[in-house]
Amino acid sequence: MYTFSRFMLLALAIAIPTVTRAENSPMEIFEQRIMPIFRSPNPSSCVQCHLASVDLKNYILPSHEATFLSLKSQGLINLDSPRKSKILTLIQMGDQDSDPLAKRIHEKQRLAELGAFQAWVVACCADPDLAGQKVDANTQTAQPASANEIIRHARKDRILDSFVRNVWSQRMRCFPCHTPGEIDSTNPKHKKPAENYAKLLKTHGARINFFKKTPEQTMRSMIANSRKSSAKALPLLNFKDPEQSLLVLKPTSKLPPKNAQGQIGPPSSTSPVSHMGGLKMHVDDMSYKAIVNWITDLGKVMTEGYQTTADLPSDTWIPTMKVLRLKDIPEAWAPGSLVQLFIHTPTRDGTVNAWTSNPIAFTQGIVTPRRIVNGPLTMLGIEPAELLPGTYRVRIFVDAKGKIRTNSAAILDASDYQGSLDIEAEWKDGFPQAEFHSVKQLQTEP
Ligand code: HEC
Ligand code: HEC
Repeated sequence: MYTFSRFMLLALAIAIPTVTRAENSPMEIFEQRIMPIFRSPNPSSCVQCHLASVDLKNYILPSHEATFLSLKSQGLINLDSPRKSKILTLIQMGDQDSDPLAKRIHEKQRLAELGAFQAWVVACCADPDLAGQKVDANTQTAQPASANEIIRHARKDRILDSFVRNVWSQRMRCFPCHTPGEIDSTNPKHKKPAENYAKLLKTHGARINFFKKTPEQTMRSMIANSRKSSAKALPLLNFKDPEQSLLVLKPTSKLPPKNAQGQIGPPSSTSPVSHMGGLKMHVDDMSYKAIVNWITDLGKVMTEGYQTTADLPSDTWIPTMKVLRLKDIPEAWAPGSLVQLFIHTPTRDGTVNAWTSNPIAFTQGIVTPRRIVNGPLTMLGIEPAELLPGTYRVRIFVDAKGKIRTNSAAILDASDYQGSLDIEAEWKDGFPQAEFHSVKQLQTEP
């Protein structure tokens, strides 16, 4: 009995002061609940929407007083209604995500951060000495280092939009092997593909299922998957070296070589890569360029590679179903040469033979042995226009110097210019209805 009550008293004596002190002193709350966030190597809950450039840590200074004054000087503290302080609103943003899964994944961390900041802000505002301190231009502040444009560029919704256009739109090239969500069991035409897919799944496992039901899920799992590194496989998305991403290496690689018994060997996911699906894409085609561009942009975001707003790309490529084909390619452009075609519209004032300087669409193709170039069009421009029937100028560039071989994202310039062609175009969808024009009458003025 005696021991028990003494223990009880001791416990009370310890417990009561600790609890009350922690609730009362802003410094204690800061040390116990905010500093662990500051010291944590993991990203804060902001990563739910900001893949980089913004973290709750960016707002924390090593002392509680300096942190409070910094937030106050940035208008992030509401002294009259501390619970309505803007810093708390920023933390609560994640609760409004339209993606329910993302909301759930980050919920625990968000609530922990919110609890900590709310308790601390309330305590700070209740401390007259702290709340009353003046702030001015000389107050030390802590905030994200990047310009707002760079913060916006690193936002998940912006990256997802680009993913939909550049990667998700290409997924049917990988049907049915990597697109279980596109196999329709009620469609008789899908019967054979579904059987093939089931066999592949059995042999190779769930790693072949990298296209999920929605673009959100697909992008999330591709990024999460690529954050882990492994000696056995290159990453699906290689943020440091985009062309070394399995997502583009596999479909541009051939089947594994045959062994002595004439059987196909096991596939390799390190260099040199081989692909059980065989060659499904060429490094010269638009899909490849679009996917590599998207990975390059994401890689720069993830490695904080954008320093100034001038570094940001104008990310506005939109694939279309329209195809431009050119025939009677001059002898000088050898089969296998890469050709880039830029489509210009007449200037709006209607001047005859005057063309807008920025192209509205673009494509890249390869000279075939029959001297044809085929190019599916990608729309360009900040607010991409529509391709309506009418007159257009096609400006033609040929990669004689191998620029695209060394940098797959290269855009050819004046030194590669070959001439232009004015065409009457309907721009119907699909390869069978492609615009098919002869380049016998090439104009040479720029
Ligand atoms: C649910 C998604 C979401 C979460 C989570 C989120 N944000 Fe944001 N954030 C946005 C959106 C959307 C905007 C753009 C708002 C606007 O333009 O009005 C934005 C804008 C910002 C900006 C201003 C940049 C600009 O474009 O002007 C800052 C700074 C910022 N957020 C910080 C944070 C911090 C810090 C966190 C974590 C505590 C956070 N955000 C969590 C979606 C989110
Ligand atoms: C005919 C079936 C088939 C098609 C079509 C196909 N693949 Fe594959 N792919 C496979 C098989 C089987 C594997 C697993 C064996 C291997 O790693 O090569 C695989 C593996 C992969 C992997 C490695 C996944 C991982 O995490 O290990 C990637 C990436 C990939 N393919 C990309 C693509 C892309 C992109 C396309 C479309 C442009 C495509 N494949 C088209 C059959 C296919």
